[in-house]
Amino acid sequence: MRLIVAITGASGIVYGKRLLEVLDEKKIEVHLIVSKAAEKVAKHELKQTKKDLEKLATHTYDEHDLNAPCMSGSFQTDGMIIVPCTMKTLAGIASGYADNLILRAADVTIKEHRRLVIVPRETPLSVIHLRNMLIVAELGVFVVPAMPAYYHNPTKLDDLVDFVVGKILDCFGIEHKLYRRWKSP
Ligand SMILES: Cc1cc2nc3c(=O)[nH]c(=O)nc-3n(C[C@H](O)[C@H](O)[C@H](O)COP(=O)(O)O)c2cc1C
Repeated sequence: MRLIVAITGASGIVYGKRLLEVLDEKKIEVHLIVSKAAEKVAKHELKQTKKDLEKLATHTYDEHDLNAPCMSGSFQTDGMIIVPCTMKTLAGIASGYADNLILRAADVTIKEHRRLVIVPRETPLSVIHLRNMLIVAELGVFVVPAMPAYYHNPTKLDDLVDFVVGKILDCFGIEHKLYRRWKSP
């Protein structure tokens, strides 16, 4: 399996990092793009650099590298995940304004009818944010907000992170044991 993963500058970089760890453990080929803003947030939230995140990927690209393979639909992938996804990147996807590699790769993923999963993070959500989510959802994009549940009885922060990462993997049918699935008591 070959996936494009993008990490943008929303709070919750930990979700992106944990996803990379899990995909690495599962030996899934990952083409990673980390935005400039994500670099800043990673430094603040995780005390980690872009390089620390890139170590977990198979191939890495600069967000301004408009010659990268994933710029083109001819580069075949099983889909793309943007985690976390800022409202700026969401707006770019919803409007087709593909002025960096993350937006272009998302645009390509949609036009090629491949699976695109975004993990938006913002609160509260404005009508603009909600409209943009509706636009992409109507195109078939999986909108998986960074919204952990509590029915699996989490006992630590890692359990909440793993729940969201597990829901991302569910969109691709990738097996995991990151959270306990609901069973009536
Ligand atoms: C510490 C920090 C946290 C941020 N959190 C969010 C957030 O949760 N959601 C969001 O949409 N933008 C957030 N932003 C703003 C984005 O980083 C900003 O809009 C940036 O231009 C997004 O660029 P990108 O989508 O190319 O990464 C945050 C910025 C900082 C510095």
